[in-house]
Amino acid sequence: EKKQIAFSAIQPSGTITLGNYLGAIRNWVTMQNEYNCIYALADLHTITVRQEPAQMRKNILDAYASILACGIDTEKSLFFIQSHVHTHAEMAWVLDCYTQFGELSRMTQFKDKSAKHADNINAGLFTYPSLMAGDILLYQADKVPVGADQQQHIEITRDIATRFNGLYGNVFKIPEGFIPKNGARVMSLQDPTKKMSKSDENVNGCVHLLDSPEAIMRKFKRAITDSEAHVHYGEGKDGINNLMGIYSTITGLSFEQIEHDFEGKGYGDFKTAVGEAVVEELRPIRERYESYIKDKAYLEECYRKADEIALKISSRTMNKVMKKIGF
Ligand code: ADP
Ligand code: NA
Repeated sequence: EKKQIAFSAIQPSGTITLGNYLGAIRNWVTMQNEYNCIYALADLHTITVRQEPAQMRKNILDAYASILACGIDTEKSLFFIQSHVHTHAEMAWVLDCYTQFGELSRMTQFKDKSAKHADNINAGLFTYPSLMAGDILLYQADKVPVGADQQQHIEITRDIATRFNGLYGNVFKIPEGFIPKNGARVMSLQDPTKKMSKSDENVNGCVHLLDSPEAIMRKFKRAITDSEAHVHYGEGKDGINNLMGIYSTITGLSFEQIEHDFEGKGYGDFKTAVGEAVVEELRPIRERYESYIKDKAYLEECYRKADEIALKISSRTMNKVMKKIGF
């Protein structure tokens, strides 16, 4: 039986967060045995926001090494760099012409990002979803492992693909989002009503994949909770709910089991336990990252190989699309 195809990508903009890891990358790793996995560093997406060239070059390599360190096995999975594979930019242009202004205007990420970058609301920021749709559709992906914040972009990808297929026949596989039950929405430790994000102004709000154990413990100890001092899941307890979600995702314990284990204990004990679980989860990743990042030649060998195969696979879809349109 032929394996299904999983495709996903992450932007190499700054460091990778615990949210990226629990919401997406952790599933990229576990899907490797069951699926034919294709993963990308979506570096073309990052220039929707102004980048400094030298820093960008460094971020790309850092992100590549970090994601390998999470457990992506280049013998099993393709892990390539989007800007190295020219079909992505080509497909984005084609799909731009099959994507409506109205539907792009409804994207909440565009609304959020244009509010945040009011001095640079560029066309790329607006058409970001059709670049992303192309990334996915080029590989005829069945499943797209992402966090909950990407649900709307998965929907528009399906809409664009369905529209194109309606005009030209079955060109694209209609992909499905693969959003985990647990970890899909990790919130800021300082404002648990907002998603954990690398652009959090409060440094204690966001845990980074490569944070030191001391930094991780400090951030969890300072996490915002409530005045109840009773570890249980509930309405109005966003901080505790978030910590329970993180703890549950890492340990595999159910919320009920966590409530039971922390019966009669205060938030201090719980925060320490969550911090320690995160430290242990991230420790081997940080160690592997340290050795990968020293070996630039190895990293280059990995992505060059993957870039080449990605070009070959994606060109099949690209050529088909061009022919269908009449080029
Ligand atoms: P970011 O949103 O941090 O800028 P990306 O847009 O590159 O990063 O997202 C990479 C992946 O991480 C996506 O699948 C996204 O859904 C997921 N993700 C991002 N933030 C979170 C979060 N706070 N909780 C869970 N998943 C997240
Ligand atoms: Na995102």
